[in-house]
Amino acid sequence: MNVDGHHYRTVWTVDDDRIRIIDQRLLPHQFVLEDLRTVDDVARAIADMHVRGAGLIGATAGYGMWLAAIEAANAPDFDPQLNRFAAQLKATRPTAVNLAWAVDRVLAAIAEPGSSGEKIAAARRVADVIADEDADFCRRIGVHGLPLLRAIHEKKGGPVNVLTHCNAGWLAFVDHGSATAPIYAAHEAGIPVHVWVDETRPRCQGSKLTAWELGRHGVPHTLVADNTGGHLMQHGLVDLVIVGTDRTTRTGDVANKIGTYLKALAAKDNGVPFYVALPSSTFDWTMKDGLREIPVEERGGNEVKYADGWHEGHHIAVLLAPENTPAANYGFDITPARLVTGLITERGVCAATGSAILDLFPEHRE
Ligand code: MRU
Repeated sequence: MNVDGHHYRTVWTVDDDRIRIIDQRLLPHQFVLEDLRTVDDVARAIADMHVRGAGLIGATAGYGMWLAAIEAANAPDFDPQLNRFAAQLKATRPTAVNLAWAVDRVLAAIAEPGSSGEKIAAARRVADVIADEDADFCRRIGVHGLPLLRAIHEKKGGPVNVLTHCNAGWLAFVDHGSATAPIYAAHEAGIPVHVWVDETRPRCQGSKLTAWELGRHGVPHTLVADNTGGHLMQHGLVDLVIVGTDRTTRTGDVANKIGTYLKALAAKDNGVPFYVALPSSTFDWTMKDGLREIPVEERGGNEVKYADGWHEGHHIAVLLAPENTPAANYGFDITPARLVTGLITERGVCAATGSAILDLFPEHRE
């Protein structure tokens, strides 16, 4: 994505010893780059959400394993130290499957016999592949999702109204985004598109990140409070919903940011197509029952009790509730496959059923 005329990915390597990220906690008010030099830096950046979003968490963790190999080379016990680093990174956030997937993919490459120098080089190579694949798969999600928007435009004539929840955009991946890729592709193809952006309390990834991204791209959009989607759908103001996912089972159950399930229910009730866009790295091929098996992150209650905003050039946190009120903060919910119209992947669009998913990804047949 271009920021002030400069093309950025969301994570990249610098020299031979560090990675650079955009500190997403400061957006949309400040665009600040941050260097991560150690596994501790990477673990903190993921846990505290300097970087977030399934694809980007995975890509950053992949590069984190490269830094882990560099650090482990100075330890007396390379392999055990590397495994400790891998466990540390995997423990940062539980829901996005891309995290463990990326860590394990780099670990497998390093497991080949070789000198520590060769292992460091192998880790970097694989981390680069993970990042490149993420960007390319998201670009292809755009290619496959575009006909859905084109068909709606040709049928109705006017702008296509898409509702999205949270941020499954460029900022949640290495480039392009998943849910946003078909939107950007339509915009570039000259199809008029307008996006309803759910603010996505409590972290406000919609108002802070999705609105910023779409604005930078010149895509018309309107920010709405989280509970607005049902009303919009009842009044024919949403043509389709496209959301991302942090983990999708082999049967098509979808974990995504808290509130997604309610949007899917409203979509079902109003006959609005509900699509989920994902690169294949977000499938969890070991799981069949999303509700029972997908771990749902619970974060601190203060994220609910306080609003974090920008006032006179500074970040401030404002208390929204009685100081002693207990708050629960579930980060994600599960949308059952029966509520999902289709999955938009890098290989094409399929129904959210085990057999349709396997038709696209036959190498995962049991
Ligand atoms: O808590 P986050 O910001 O890491 O959550 C991730 C998300 O932004 C969403 O759930 C998103 O829709 C899917 S991630 C591609």
